[in-house]
Amino acid sequence: MQAAARAQPNIALIKYWGKRDTARNLPAVGSISVTLADLYTDMTVELEDGRGEDSLTVNDVAAPDLLPRVSLCLDSVLGDGRPAAVVRSSSNFPIAAGLASSASAFAALVVAATEAGARDFSQEELANLAGRTSGSAARSLFGGIVELHNDHDRVRIDTLLAAEDWPLRVVIAVTEPGRKAVSSGEAMEISRKTSPHYQRWLADQAYDLTVARDAVAARDFNRLGQIAEHNCLKMHTLMWASQPPMVYWNEATLACLYTVRDLQAAASPVFFTVDAGPQVKVICLDENEAAVRDALASTPGVSDVLVSGLGEGARPVTVS
Ligand code: DP6
Repeated sequence: MQAAARAQPNIALIKYWGKRDTARNLPAVGSISVTLADLYTDMTVELEDGRGEDSLTVNDVAAPDLLPRVSLCLDSVLGDGRPAAVVRSSSNFPIAAGLASSASAFAALVVAATEAGARDFSQEELANLAGRTSGSAARSLFGGIVELHNDHDRVRIDTLLAAEDWPLRVVIAVTEPGRKAVSSGEAMEISRKTSPHYQRWLADQAYDLTVARDAVAARDFNRLGQIAEHNCLKMHTLMWASQPPMVYWNEATLACLYTVRDLQAAASPVFFTVDAGPQVKVICLDENEAAVRDALASTPGVSDVLVSGLGEGARPVTVS
């Protein structure tokens, strides 16, 4: 009983930050994201009756520290009485550095576990299963531009546009490939409990979602960019004003934001977003990709630049 799945990370343009139910890991706000095409995680799940404990390797290295979340996710897909699993994950991009590797990992894991265990879940049920472990992972079950809604005790995902309907490009400036000190899950709980801006963040999210949803429908790049940058900077303001403060940025992060401002001043359609890490994600159109990539690559402190289009949701693949 072995199966494999592939999923890509997604980048939120309107962010999920804060939980309304920590036990079920339900987000406090809706979010809008783009699913990438060219960065991916491949996950293999092998179920072994009679074998004692789960095991996990990430890029061929044993990863016992990450195993508890993986085991809980497998329990939620396969039930408590499930066989033990040998799980192998490999990603073609730096993990745990604010590049949404948990989103692609848990989206791929629920699909691979479902296949290995011969279960039958809809894509929406899989999104809820993945979201229980990592809220943003729910969005990677779907491709293109997606909106996550909170629906009573579950999440619901709408595809706003398929990947091919608006061929945006995402250029990622890597400024620090190492692991982040505080996970997003921990950090958003600190914000919920201590940030003076948290209630305002919750109150304003519906407006930001509406503006972004309408901008996507109209393919209004500038409007989408304005609201995405605003939403991103509000999320970081929440973190900066939390106690303890959480500043994920480094000098190169800020230098990249200035690079984006310079491109915008030269009338390039580009905008940035930054997640719980120091990398800067820049969204642009096809015709600007080379200029954006070059400008970010020559920004001081940028160690690597990754480029991706928009892609499809998590799906089973043939075991190699
Ligand atoms: C800043 O999905 O990693 O990337 O549910 O605790 O696993 P958990 O959090 P996670 O948070 C993602 C936060 C973000 C914004 C986003 O992707 O919407």
